[in-house]
Amino acid sequence: MSTPVLQVEGLSVSARNGEREVTLVDRLSFDLAEGEILGLVGESGSGKTMACRGLMRLLPSPNLRVHGQAIRLAGENLLQLDENGMRAIRGRRLGMIFQNPSSHLDPLMRIGEQIGEGIRLHQGASKREARAQAIEVLRQVGVPDPLRRVDSYPHEFSGGMRQRAMIAVALACNPQVLIADEPTTALDVTVQAQILRLLLDLRDQRGLSIIMITHDLGVVAQTCDSIAVMYAGRLCEHGSKHALLARPRHPYTAGLIDCQPATGAGHALLRTIAGQPPLLDALPGGCRFNPRCLQPGSRCTESLPELQVMIEGPRVACHYPLAAAARP
Ligand SMILES: Nc1ncnc2c1ncn2[C@@H]1O[C@H](COP(=O)(O)OP(=O)(O)OP(=O)(O)O)[C@@H](O)[C@H]1O
Ligand SMILES: [Mg+2]
Repeated sequence: MSTPVLQVEGLSVSARNGEREVTLVDRLSFDLAEGEILGLVGESGSGKTMACRGLMRLLPSPNLRVHGQAIRLAGENLLQLDENGMRAIRGRRLGMIFQNPSSHLDPLMRIGEQIGEGIRLHQGASKREARAQAIEVLRQVGVPDPLRRVDSYPHEFSGGMRQRAMIAVALACNPQVLIADEPTTALDVTVQAQILRLLLDLRDQRGLSIIMITHDLGVVAQTCDSIAVMYAGRLCEHGSKHALLARPRHPYTAGLIDCQPATGAGHALLRTIAGQPPLLDALPGGCRFNPRCLQPGSRCTESLPELQVMIEGPRVACHYPLAAAARP
């Protein structure tokens, strides 16, 4: 793949609760190549949304703070930009589809106006030009009858159509990177497949790079090129999809894969990883996963494992990575 369009180095998000500061996202580092689709996975509360909101500097509450070494978008360090600078980047070069589309579309504004807003703001387009472009974007994301739909309000759209409208808003200014937070979770399987197909097409046609947050390893297997696994605010494994799914090296990644429902012989078998993720203000000593790990060693309670690059390519934060033998 080509040089990374996005380079994240040591991204952290912390929350101040009174006197205490809790780290929600702890020194995340990864690269994203042009046209790459990265799946960001991990249990609820592991910090996936916070990491991506930190990247966009769109944090939902004033007690939250982003820090880190660098977030480079095509070489430019976004951490050195002020809020005005970030506003020019968001929407235009970094797009985001939020976890809940209904709460991020303005119910009182026509769909076309919401798509056109960014076009007018970033490209200085007139109202008419913006409307014409909004129709075109709606067509691209597969909204039927866009000439009429452009004047609809969000409540007149079905769930799947609202999700497409969100994608249209995020793509209106042709961003380099799209962050999609659970883009298909609320949708039925048919619509889910259509939205995933749409994202793949956009990647193929525009070279769009995508960070896709999802709970669903099935979606990852179908759609992504690479996978990053988060646990309790930290990256525990990152590498190509094929390597991670066939040969997970972190016990947590292996546990997640084993938790996928196996639909063999007409029945679904659902396992879970025993125990709960730790509270971020009461973390265990050493590796954060050690209380749930099936094969902890002596170092696991002593020190926090940093990401190390394995010979076969993936990065793993584990003192005792699993053997590289392929799983059955
Ligand atoms: N304003 C806040 N102040 C302090 N902690 C917060 C705040 N908002 C969220 N958190 C905590 O940040 C952590 C990460 O949350 P985040 O929403 O990123 O998880 P997630 O991986 O996206 O989970 P899900 O899969 O459920 O969407 C959680 O422990 C959450 O409780
Ligand atoms: Mg989330």
